[in-house]
Amino acid sequence: MKRFFWMTLLVLAFASACRTGTVSRVDSPNEDLTVIGMCQVGAESDWRVANSESMKAVFTEENGYRLLFEDARQKQENQITAIRKFIQQQVDYIVLMPISESGWDSVLQEAREAEIPVILVDRMADVEDEDLYAAHVGSDFLAEGARAAAWIEEAFPGEDPVRIIHIQGTQGSTAQLGRTAALEEAAAAHPHWELLAQLDGDFTQAKTYEVMTDYLTALPDGGDIDVVYCENDNIAFGALQALEEQGYPCGRKGVNIIAFDATRGALAECLNGKIALAVECNPLLGPLVEEVIQTMEAGRTPEKHHYVEEQLFTREDLTAALVDSREY
Ligand code: AHR
Repeated sequence: MKRFFWMTLLVLAFASACRTGTVSRVDSPNEDLTVIGMCQVGAESDWRVANSESMKAVFTEENGYRLLFEDARQKQENQITAIRKFIQQQVDYIVLMPISESGWDSVLQEAREAEIPVILVDRMADVEDEDLYAAHVGSDFLAEGARAAAWIEEAFPGEDPVRIIHIQGTQGSTAQLGRTAALEEAAAAHPHWELLAQLDGDFTQAKTYEVMTDYLTALPDGGDIDVVYCENDNIAFGALQALEEQGYPCGRKGVNIIAFDATRGALAECLNGKIALAVECNPLLGPLVEEVIQTMEAGRTPEKHHYVEEQLFTREDLTAALVDSREY
């Protein structure tokens, strides 16, 4: 009797697993759809929200796709769990926006064994074998940082000290590593640039406001600050709020805030003179990711790296019409 009970339980468990799709290919009402398992970092910034929207606008049923979208809420372990679920569901492609560069070898190896191509979007994964991913679509973060550093060089000619506060994004992410490396290299080449502090803003406005307020409050007699190098727009918004509350004027004649992303909100602050430089980082990557997938669907090998073109904005480059027409 006991044996019969356990056998019945086993059969029921298997049937239920099949129904919920844990051991069979994900149920698709239309077999012709290409199934994409997409694992996004989270929704930490305006950039990230625009990036998710760009993906959702492209990978629709009308365009021939079934999109399984997972928001990892800023945790790598959630991303790894999502990839394993996509493997079990036997999706056609995995699209991954890696939160940080390290820690991907094993799970990407599992995807390769399941013969599911992985496309990295936005940030990179630092893996031993480049063949663990089919292609990467995103920004050249080191080049973005180098553009910002060149602007500082031009804005502060001469040998007077340039006092810089550096607020970083999520530690270990490609965006943080590239933008940080560019500033550190430039600072090493300019002995009169003083890196006063390196704070962790984790790409969010709330955390930056907190760390910047603490830093400024502890600063003796409101010391001079020339530049605040913010590794994304939301960091810039948090820094701006903290600086203004502590009585620091922001703009070309006060604290020069540099922000990365150039979302509509940052361009508006740039036009009104509060942000000195907006360095573009383009989140509208959906169409490019689709091109990569279409190349593979046609049986061809896509280019390994696709970098998007980006530019710089200062107040002089902007008009209200341009800001209003910004897509993100
Ligand atoms: O990886 C891209 C960066 O991540 C963007 O600059 C930032 O806003 C986002 O959260």
